[in-house]
Amino acid sequence: MAETKKSTNTVWHAHTITRDERAELKKHKSCLVWFTGLSGSGKSTLANALEDRLYQMGYHTYVLDGDNVRHGLNGDLGFSDEDRTENIRRIAEVGKLMVDAGILVMTAFISPFKEDRQKARDLLAEGDFIEVYACAELDVCEERDPKGLYKKARAGEIPEFTGISSPYEAPEAAEIVVHTDQKDVPQSVDQIVEYLQQKGYIG
Ligand code: ADX
Repeated sequence: MAETKKSTNTVWHAHTITRDERAELKKHKSCLVWFTGLSGSGKSTLANALEDRLYQMGYHTYVLDGDNVRHGLNGDLGFSDEDRTENIRRIAEVGKLMVDAGILVMTAFISPFKEDRQKARDLLAEGDFIEVYACAELDVCEERDPKGLYKKARAGEIPEFTGISSPYEAPEAAEIVVHTDQKDVPQSVDQIVEYLQQKGYIG
């Protein structure tokens, strides 16, 4: 029988699909759009509305949302400073993987601590992390109180509630500040979409 394979100790390297190749297929550059802001500031509403818009434009998107992720992956975490830090660390790691997978990812977490947001930013490559500050005064968020949580926090029924009994450190150099108490949702989405277009993430 003829010898057909002469080389030994060789390893066949499968061609590894690169992030750039995934981006080329998707016709967009992936990134992590990181929403931060008080409870009731509009983070989840904006993240979902932005996803809706981007989806209609034909892009591949995903939203990681605080309330949802805390039911699953981060169901073991509460709201102490340490647990919030761990919450944000895990989300940043998951977000990074999804960005590598070529997805336009939106995260909606209070992420109250500057240091934790900075660590999330540092985990990703330059330009992959876009911080969006959903900015609304505490009294506006408290007035909105969509989940009735501020009322409970004021009554002492929820300890360590952000803005009431736990701090919120506002970003000083977010890429985008959306004044959700001055703009409606479509206008706020326009603002973010324009940024993504100007910077070349989407066409
Ligand atoms: S974070 O601080 O760790 O970033 P995350 O965004 O995941 O918080 O979760 C915030 C959501 O959890 C709020 O929108 C609210 O619905 C709920 N929640 C329950 N308890 C608290 C609390 N003590 N402080 C803030 N949010 C709370």
